[in-house]
Amino acid sequence: MTLTSLPPQLSRILISEEAIQQRVRELAQQISNDYASVERLYLVGVLRGAFIFLADLARHLTIPHVVDFIAVSSYGKSAASGAVRLLMDLREPVENQHVLLVEDIVDSGQTLDYLLHTLHGRRPASLHTCVLVQKKRDSLPVPVNYLGFEIPDVWVVGYGLDYADTFRTLPYIAELKPEVYQ
Ligand code: PRP
Repeated sequence: MTLTSLPPQLSRILISEEAIQQRVRELAQQISNDYASVERLYLVGVLRGAFIFLADLARHLTIPHVVDFIAVSSYGKSAASGAVRLLMDLREPVENQHVLLVEDIVDSGQTLDYLLHTLHGRRPASLHTCVLVQKKRDSLPVPVNYLGFEIPDVWVVGYGLDYADTFRTLPYIAELKPEVYQ
């Protein structure tokens, strides 16, 4: 991927397709090792952003697993803590399941905080988190058990992440030019 082929709204590639794929394989190996003794792992992808990461991660797992999805929406990035609502719930109850929440990004931490509280109340056998990228910024202190990359506090798109529903399916993660969203 050369700079000249970047869409004009993007300033630079932060994480290349190759780096993402390599890290996803590493995470899948680590998760497969850690959950080697469980009957099955219950993967929960957070829609919409996590669908690409989850698809790649799940296909590299070497342990039994099932895939489910949950959809949430925040009331805006400047909203107060907890301003997250459930749009679509899981298909199955997760009581006594080993649940791994799969997220594309932790930004303010509100979404993961909300989901952890919500799912914890359903008494899973275990509840952990796998996040592809986390911004270096003040955020809620949410536990991230498996992390792909730390990134600067800039607007990023690609590999599931969007700006106004565009750029979600780019194979790399890139920085959006500030003038696009300011
Ligand atoms: C994005 C992303 C995370 C959340 C992280 O979702 O997919 O779920 O924001 O931000 P936070 O840490 O500040 O809560 P978004 O609300 O943009 O919806 P989408 O996944 O459908 O794009």
